Amino acid sequence: MRTESEQTIYLKDYAPTPYRIVSVELDFKILEDSTRVRTQLTIEPREQTAPGTPLVLDGDELKLDSIAVDGAPLVLSAYVSDANSLTLMEPPHRRFVLETEVTLNPAANTKLMGLYRSSGTWCTQCEPEGFRRITYYLDRPDVLAPFKVRMSAPRAVAPVLLANGNLVESGDAGEGMHFAVWEDPFLKPAYLFALVAGDLGSITDSFTTMSGRKVDLGIYCTHGKEDECLYAMDSLKRSMAWDERRFGREYDLDVFNIVAVSDFNFGAMENKGLNIFNDRLVFAKPETATDANYHGIERVIAHEYFHNWTGNRITCRDWFQLCLKEGLTVFRDQEFTSDERSRPVQRIHDVQNLRTSQFPEDGGPLAHPPRPDQYREINNFYTTTVYEKGAEIVRMLATLLGEAGFRKATDLYFERHDGDATTIEAFIKVFEDSSGRDLSQFSTWYLQAGTPQVNVSDNYDAASQTYTLTLSQKVEPTPGEATKKPLVIPVRFGLIGPNGSPMGWSKVSGGTVEDDLILLDTESVTLTFAGVANKPVPSLFRGFSAPVKVTSNLGQEDLLFLARHDSDPFNRWDALQTAATTLIANAALGTAWSAGEVDALRQALVDTLENPDLDPAYKAQAIDIPADTVVGRHIGKDVNPDAVAAARKDLVTALVGPVAEKLEAIYHGLAVSGPYSPDAAQAGSRSLRNGLLGLLTTGSDRGAELADRQYNDATNMTERYAAMAISARNWTPGAPALLGDFRTRFAGDPLVFDKWLTASAQATDDGVIERMRATLAAPDFPRTNPNRLRSLLGSFAMTNPVQFTRADGLGFRFITEAIVDIDKVNPQVASRILTGFRILPTLEQSRRTAGIEALQALKDQHKLSRNVGEILDRILA
Ligand code: ARG
Ligand code: ZN
Repeated sequence: MRTESEQTIYLKDYAPTPYRIVSVELDFKILEDSTRVRTQLTIEPREQTAPGTPLVLDGDELKLDSIAVDGAPLVLSAYVSDANSLTLMEPPHRRFVLETEVTLNPAANTKLMGLYRSSGTWCTQCEPEGFRRITYYLDRPDVLAPFKVRMSAPRAVAPVLLANGNLVESGDAGEGMHFAVWEDPFLKPAYLFALVAGDLGSITDSFTTMSGRKVDLGIYCTHGKEDECLYAMDSLKRSMAWDERRFGREYDLDVFNIVAVSDFNFGAMENKGLNIFNDRLVFAKPETATDANYHGIERVIAHEYFHNWTGNRITCRDWFQLCLKEGLTVFRDQEFTSDERSRPVQRIHDVQNLRTSQFPEDGGPLAHPPRPDQYREINNFYTTTVYEKGAEIVRMLATLLGEAGFRKATDLYFERHDGDATTIEAFIKVFEDSSGRDLSQFSTWYLQAGTPQVNVSDNYDAASQTYTLTLSQKVEPTPGEATKKPLVIPVRFGLIGPNGSPMGWSKVSGGTVEDDLILLDTESVTLTFAGVANKPVPSLFRGFSAPVKVTSNLGQEDLLFLARHDSDPFNRWDALQTAATTLIANAALGTAWSAGEVDALRQALVDTLENPDLDPAYKAQAIDIPADTVVGRHIGKDVNPDAVAAARKDLVTALVGPVAEKLEAIYHGLAVSGPYSPDAAQAGSRSLRNGLLGLLTTGSDRGAELADRQYNDATNMTERYAAMAISARNWTPGAPALLGDFRTRFAGDPLVFDKWLTASAQATDDGVIERMRATLAAPDFPRTNPNRLRSLLGSFAMTNPVQFTRADGLGFRFITEAIVDIDKVNPQVASRILTGFRILPTLEQSRRTAGIEALQALKDQHKLSRNVGEILDRILA
């Protein structure tokens, strides 16, 4: 069946609008059952615009109630309007005021784009194209204007009235109504518009900026949740201070508000002066939020705040440039967390995330460049490639320029482009101008899809004391890109001598080396180091200096040597990961490991655990045996997830066996005493303890009972949730009881219900799909809430390969059938869940066929949204 619209939008077609919007005045009359929006746009033609050029405004599911130009109603022949557009056939060839009126039904807006109601609160989401669901407008990011918003609503249901900028007036409006007027002096694109009306509680605080201005801070939430907003407020103040210190960026308005809402399509939104958040990224208390939740809140509060400079004051010219703001802002939030917590731990965390979500995207049917050049549905391009690979590209720029050079470049960026809607090209130009470097080849990172594979081989010649290192790069074809250009790959490196200490060399030939950085910018380079006294082990891509996959001639012994001796903490971790991944992958493909290999890996893990110089958070990452999905990716094709899961379990069993008692003792020793704190030190101990619990549960018969006990004795959600989730994943005898208890113990808390849904979806036993069907079918299941749907269905499709990719197709059909229903309510949520099918090309034949059949049935039998239609076609292509 045909989907909504198959039209493709191309970057090459970009052209500025023929008209400018000089200013915007909006008047919202919010009533219980409808909202009337009256809009006054002051518009003028651009200099080059010919008289008589039509003005086409965007709309989406709108119906025009009235229209006037300069106060006079328009005759019917002067305009054409439908749900998706409003065209003035021959607008005045001068500045004029266009006045329109529409009536909205926010309660019926289940797409959660535009103005909608969430648990009674009126709120908005406009990025990328939601504003056109509020009023007819030039809804694109290069149209910047000052906004003035008047809103009125019944005082009883909406005592709180918020919008962007500063409150300039408020008061009584008669008949139980009141009003507020907000003005935003900064020019902004419509996607940054926001409005909130509702009966909300709040906490307030203030921040004094570096130039001594006082900013009032507020976080708004459902009544009764105020105490759960304190960590978010603390994170906000730390973010504001950090951006001044690290980037010299000061906040600009007198007010900064955040509102937490329960129904939200993604994490949060950086609307100017009025961020709106998914409440799961605001609320936290120890009994119901995990350490990971606190970490996530801190990160996203920072991320949205940082957008004020990277996104709002400097915005995107068009949506193809999305990673201009997202890649840079993710880089900034990663740096913030690194500075606030532990840098190596954060780096490992970010790389793990990149490998578990971005690499699969970049190596499959949904691969696209960080700066794409075409799309059917822009909402499908808020991807991990745009965000996380985008951040890696900025990180490589920082690596190439060095700390001072990078700061010089960002200073220039803010100075040169403040107030602009700009492009990736302009961004790169700033780095070129400030450093004098030619970055034309580097910019290929933005324009080309696919994860580069770097192959490494080395050779040592004892007689001449020379060491040669050959690095070559290649990128597999991705959809629409058959041939690939070589990239500029910064390789931070060191050579390690036999005794484990760094080795020097006297000179190098055959490539570009700047200090500890090799620049791999051709298909292949061979470097010869002279004056190398012994055969070294190379440590490459220190700190994960480029987002690539590496294959090398290093054996298990070399890897474990690095795990022990590398001065770079990231590479020590990575060596252990690679060693474990290789053993599991080989076993899944039929090549068993030797006892010696397992003994050596075990010894390396135990030594790491017992090393007094390492902190627990790092140790937790070091003993984290790679997930099935990571191993599956490593194998790459004809993957049998059952075989991977079995091999992983066997390896963990072999590793744990002889040291189970020791691990258990360490586990007990890590119990945190005293009151709960979400700080990095306490969280680190808990994560190591939970990591050990996971190993013991998967790899021994001691874990299941320990997990039961931890669950029952838990004094906070981090301990309780981990015990339940580990039990569910391993489907221990106690798992059903723990899940049952958890569900009733926290009945009525939707965010805790999400945790239950996630843990339930990760069970690997054959009953999991039937149980999920029952959960979904319950009459009280909140079937329009994105968090609930993603927690159950998203978790299943993304993290339970054993059951999702079953050869009988049951897992695939469970998801496609759910998608049919969800798509009618909320296409964005539906298409996001569907992306789980990107795993198909890596699977063995029978599973792949079953998956394709499920997708084909979805395509043939249903009328689908553009969101789902596009993803479906790309996966099936
Ligand atoms: N700009 C927001 C952020 O990065 C997210 C907006 C997501 N929009 C979307 N259509 N998926 O924080
Ligand atoms: Zn963002």
